[in-house]
Amino acid sequence: MSENIMLPNPHKIINIINETENEYTFRVETNAKVKHGQFFQVSIPKIGEAPISVSSMGDNWVELTIRKVGKLTNEIFNLKPGDKIFMRGPYGNSFPKDDFKGKDLVVIAGGTGVSPVRSLLKYFYENPDEIRSLHFIAGFKDEKSILFKEDLKNFKTRFNTIYTLDKDKIEGFEVGLVTEHIKKIPFDTFENYNVVIVGPPVMMHFAALECLKNGVPEEKIWVSFERKMSCGVGKCGHCKINETYVCLEGPVFNYTKAKKLLD
Ligand SMILES: Cc1cc2nc3c(=O)[nH]c(=O)nc-3n(C[C@H](O)[C@H](O)[C@H](O)COP(=O)(O)OP(=O)(O)OC[C@H]3O[C@@H](n4cnc5c(N)ncnc54)[C@H](O)[C@@H]3O)c2cc1C
Ligand code: FES
Repeated sequence: MSENIMLPNPHKIINIINETENEYTFRVETNAKVKHGQFFQVSIPKIGEAPISVSSMGDNWVELTIRKVGKLTNEIFNLKPGDKIFMRGPYGNSFPKDDFKGKDLVVIAGGTGVSPVRSLLKYFYENPDEIRSLHFIAGFKDEKSILFKEDLKNFKTRFNTIYTLDKDKIEGFEVGLVTEHIKKIPFDTFENYNVVIVGPPVMMHFAALECLKNGVPEEKIWVSFERKMSCGVGKCGHCKINETYVCLEGPVFNYTKAKKLLD
């Protein structure tokens, strides 16, 4: 158990998978107990720190799928297996997995938004009896941006999947934004269900509106936010939207609350 929740600790990188040119998955040693949807504050001393979602977890490891976008992430891409990375956490709330059990679940994810829902999808892939059905819509910009190719193949065998690229036409993928495919989900055949939407804010906004248009009640929709953070533990106010601390009360929100936070 960690004595000081603000103190980053070094963790060994076990393995690195190049998902795309700018997105790598780092498997890191840790015995932290993580819930689906939580994040770590990841850092390199003297360079910087940023929140990164857990994209998969196992005995004594977590995976972090990182997009190279700036100061810290550029530096992380120079690390090799065996090197150490600093982490504190896990922080934030999680998807209400236990509430999803025995019901139908719809997961709609765009781009790196697949990362925070990947561990939840893997859980239900490995425990299919715990869910009545799972529909998964995943959208990527183009062929080059497709993440987790192996998982996508596996999920296809147990879930109802729709994979889509914004414009490219390739085998196994539809064309168009995720929002264009939401009407294909048979919401009216579900008894009791939840919808998880994760992606860039504009995608979450329009995907949620499309779900509402298809008769989904607001309280059945869950989203996860990426927001500038600093402390990650409710002390600095960096992540605050109105009176809401995204780091503490989120990153997962029910849409009844999230609709007031999505700009
Ligand atoms: C809960 C949560 C979970 C997250 N999970 C993930 C995840 O799983 N994977 C992931 O990759 N990211 C994730 N993020 C986002 C990640 O934390 C940010 O992308 C973070 O800023 C990266 O840090 P950095 O130092 O590399 O980038 P920064 O240097 O902070 O750059 C971030 C952005 O600012 C821009 N920028 C930088 N410097 C300048 C400048 N001088 N002028 C103008 N623009 C500039 C960059 O182009 C970039 O778009 C998550 C965020 C949150 C809140
Ligand atoms: S990041 Fe500091 S209060 Fe949320």
